[in-house]
Amino acid sequence: MTASQQESHVPASFTAKIKTLADRAWAVKHPELDSRQVASLKDEIKQKLIEQDAVLVAHYYVDDELQELADESGGCVADSLEMARFGYQHDAKTVIVAGVRFMGETAKILSPQKRILMVETEAECSLDLACPEKEFSEFCDQHPDRTVVVYANTSAGVKARADWVVTSSIALKVVKHLHEKGEKLIWAPDRFLGGYVQKQTGADMLLWQASCIVHEEFKSVALQGLKKQHPDAKVLVHPESPASVVALADVVGSTSQIINAAVESDAKTFIVATESGIFHKMKQAAPGKTFLEAPTAGESAACESCAQCPWMKMNDLQRLSNVLDKRSIDEGGSEIIIPEDVRKRAETSIHRMMKFGS
Ligand code: 13P
Ligand code: SF4
Repeated sequence: MTASQQESHVPASFTAKIKTLADRAWAVKHPELDSRQVASLKDEIKQKLIEQDAVLVAHYYVDDELQELADESGGCVADSLEMARFGYQHDAKTVIVAGVRFMGETAKILSPQKRILMVETEAECSLDLACPEKEFSEFCDQHPDRTVVVYANTSAGVKARADWVVTSSIALKVVKHLHEKGEKLIWAPDRFLGGYVQKQTGADMLLWQASCIVHEEFKSVALQGLKKQHPDAKVLVHPESPASVVALADVVGSTSQIINAAVESDAKTFIVATESGIFHKMKQAAPGKTFLEAPTAGESAACESCAQCPWMKMNDLQRLSNVLDKRSIDEGGSEIIIPEDVRKRAETSIHRMMKFGS
C-alpha cells in the first residue's frame, strides 16, 4: 500500500451529518427581492457598515449581490487566503465574512483584537465537517514522525494541531519545500487536493480521506464530451476536483488563480470546474470571453452543472443586514469566538504559510 492509499479516516457518522447539514442549508428560504428592494437593502447595509466601523469580506462563491456590495463598500471579494489577508490588514474594528465558518475563524485567528461576524453562522464546509478535531489529533499522534499540513478548510482546533496551514493557492509550493527538506507529511482533509499535490511533488503523504461535496461531483467523461464540442476551449479546474477531472485541465488552481488564468490566456472560451459563484467575477475580469460550466452529471441527467455550495448560498443580503443590527451585534449572535490557547497555536501555523508566501 502506498502512502496515499490509506483507509478512510472519516467516521461514517460524520458523512451522515454532512448530508443532513447540506440538506438543511438547501432548505433555507431566501426572500425574493426585486431590483428596487435590492438597491434599498444595499444602501441600508452600506450605512450600517459605516456605523459599525465594519468591512465586508466575501468569497467568490457567494451570490452576485453580496460580491457587488463587498466591492462597492470598500471591502473585497477574494479567495480564502486573500480574504484572511484583507481582514488582517484593514483598519475596520469589525470584519464581516460572507462565506463559510472556517473563513470567519481564520479571520479571527489572525485578528484577535477585531470583532469577526459571520453573515451566516451555520455555513459549514464538508471538508471541515469531515475532519473532526479529536479523531484527527489521534491520527496525528499515531504518526509522530510526520509534519502535519492542513488545508485552510478546517476548524481552528485542527489548524491548532497542525504545523502548517495551506490554501489551494500555495499548497504545491509548501509541500514541495517540505519534501525537498526530506520531511514526511500528514495531509488533511481533502483527498483530491492531497492526491494532486502528492502526484506533482512526489512527497510522502498520508492523506485524510475527506472531499468537497461540490467539486467531487465534476465528471470527466461528460467533460471530455464538452471539450469535443468546444475544441478551442481551455479547461480551468479547482484541485478539489477528482483526479480524472484534474487530468483534463489546462490550468489547475485556486479560485483566484483560475480567474487570473482566464484574464491572461489568449483563449476566448473556458470550461470551468469550480463552484458557479465564480462566474460573476470571471465575467467582470475577462469581459468578452465565454465561460462554460464543467458538467457535474452524466449525459442523461437533467442537471448539466449544479456546482453550487449549499453553505455559500446560505449567505444573503437580508441576513447580512440583520447581522449588522446593533441589537444582534450586542447579543454576539454571529460573532466568531475561539479559545485563546487554540487561537495562538493555529495562528503559528497560518503565519508560517503567510511568511512563506510573502
Ligand atoms: P479557495 O482557497 O480557492 O478560495 O477555495 C476555497 C474553497 O472553499 C474551495 O471550495
Ligand atoms: Fe467547502 Fe466545497 Fe463549499 Fe468550498 S465549495 S466551502 S470546499 S463544501
